[in-house]
Amino acid sequence: MLKVLIVYATRTGETQKIGEFIAEGLRFSAVDVSLMSANDIKKESDLAGFDAYVFGSATYHGEMMSGMKTLLFLAEKAGLENKVGGAFGAFGWSGEAPDRIFDTMKNIYQMDMVSMPLRLKSGSLGGGIKMAQDYGREIAQKLE
Ligand SMILES: Cc1cc2nc3c(=O)[nH]c(=O)nc-3n(C[C@H](O)[C@H](O)[C@H](O)COP(=O)(O)O)c2cc1C
Repeated sequence: MLKVLIVYATRTGETQKIGEFIAEGLRFSAVDVSLMSANDIKKESDLAGFDAYVFGSATYHGEMMSGMKTLLFLAEKAGLENKVGGAFGAFGWSGEAPDRIFDTMKNIYQMDMVSMPLRLKSGSLGGGIKMAQDYGREIAQKLE
């Protein structure tokens, strides 16, 4: 069974919610999903053994959260080259974090990224649930 790791950095829980809906979309496609907080990834080996990686952070003061920055440095040496990747995050008005994460996964780790990052104002408003589930499906399709 294909395995996907979703890691989120959140302050008030919206980005975690989006991660949970992406996980649902992946599970509809019979993919095994692990969902973790960035704070719980302590070492490179915690990232080993997955077929795809989806990293998400909320945007605060125009940036991703510090837990996601730490994770991205850790992931640099985790051998993610050519693995399927995606990025997401909740935002209020500018939403820089998902784009920055996506670009790092593409340019530094050389991952095989889905079409674009997923940016949502909320995981449960304005069609957000379906968009996040569909993002999970898109990642699963790229794994086929
Ligand atoms: C102090 C503060 C600063 C924020 N800065 C930004 C920002 O620069 N750009 C943006 O798009 N949203 C900004 N937001 C909005 C958050 O990204 C938004 O509330 C998001 O849903 C929080 O996600 P979380 O629940 O995963 O932490 C800010 C919110 C707060 C409270």
